[in-house]
Amino acid sequence: QKIIIALDGFAACGKSTLAKSLAKKLNYIYVDTGAMYRAVTLYFLQEKISLEDEQAIAQALDNIRIDFRHRAGANHCFLNGEDVEEEIRKMHVSKWVSPVAAISAVRRFLVKQQQAMGRFKGLVMDGRDIGTVVFPEAELKLFMTASYEVRSQRRLAELQAKGLSASLAEVRENLMERDQIDSSREDSPLRKADDAITIDNSELSMNEQLDLALDLAQK
Ligand code: C5P
Repeated sequence: QKIIIALDGFAACGKSTLAKSLAKKLNYIYVDTGAMYRAVTLYFLQEKISLEDEQAIAQALDNIRIDFRHRAGANHCFLNGEDVEEEIRKMHVSKWVSPVAAISAVRRFLVKQQQAMGRFKGLVMDGRDIGTVVFPEAELKLFMTASYEVRSQRRLAELQAKGLSASLAEVRENLMERDQIDSSREDSPLRKADDAITIDNSELSMNEQLDLALDLAQK
């Protein structure tokens, strides 16, 4: 029987890596909700939308279409028909994404689309609020964390592998800042659901995490 798996947790602690391999193993659909917040942020930056201008934000959201398509074996995020997978990972988007994600009109807009994807049973969705807001009824909820040391090293290696430049200090600072914004407000997205299982993967290999998650999914 196919289920919904909600995978939440801090920035850059390997959620998407685990979510992708889980989805592949189980033959499930994988949805990266962080990419959706990043795509909205990219649009706001391109169109120079002020984060204080509610009307401009509402209008901008009306003009945003986000979808995911397969490209060369990977899931790519498209913004209004354009492949933005690479652009949305860059530091200038990372710097603005948490303030954009704190806007409630933006959250309502994306949560609605994410909930609509629940019609595909057999879903692994990664984000911050999947187990609490998007799918509180998800059959399996995982909450991932890892030390800042491990997370910033991993994220830096990812950026470098893509030929994007950044320093370790810059990456580390961005992770801390995003976690702070993502978890500080009362209605902040980053909260662990009461029934979520915590995985600290600072010292777990990819295979160990996958085995652990598969075990839980098959219970
Ligand atoms: O997952 P990723 O690190 O790419 O997410 C980028 C940002 O998008 C997060 O730091 C957070 O501000 C926001 N986000 C969110 N809710 C989600 C997923 C991401 O607020 N479900």
